[in-house]
Amino acid sequence: MRKTSHIIWQDAQHQVLFEILDLIKESGPDSQVLLKLQDYTENHFALEELYMAELEFPGRDAHIESHNRFRTEIDQLVGVGGQLDDQFREIIATFLTEWLTRHVFGIDKELEDYILQSDAR
Ligand SMILES: [Fe+2]
Ligand SMILES: [Fe+2]
Repeated sequence: MRKTSHIIWQDAQHQVLFEILDLIKESGPDSQVLLKLQDYTENHFALEELYMAELEFPGRDAHIESHNRFRTEIDQLVGVGGQLDDQFREIIATFLTEWLTRHVFGIDKELEDYILQSDAR
């Protein structure tokens, strides 16, 4: 995955998320990987949301709403994870990867710019 942000922690965490999604495509019906995705996603979203709160980022509500939609998708996936067949799991992982790509190169860029301007990285 190409570089997603000029903020080191933000880019590094995005890269890990994409790596976990790739693992989901390859893994058997392994719910551990899904839990890992859930856990790591929560860490990442929580950190972005902390910056938004600290810096009083104006786009905060919309951004948190977007995170919450992804959280819901993952919660549902974890719920049925062990029963997914290979093909369905791959479809879902592809969908989540596309969603994350749009998020990371869309709304996350606005947050990145704001953090860089505030010099709080
Ligand atoms: Fe992000
Ligand atoms: Fe985000």
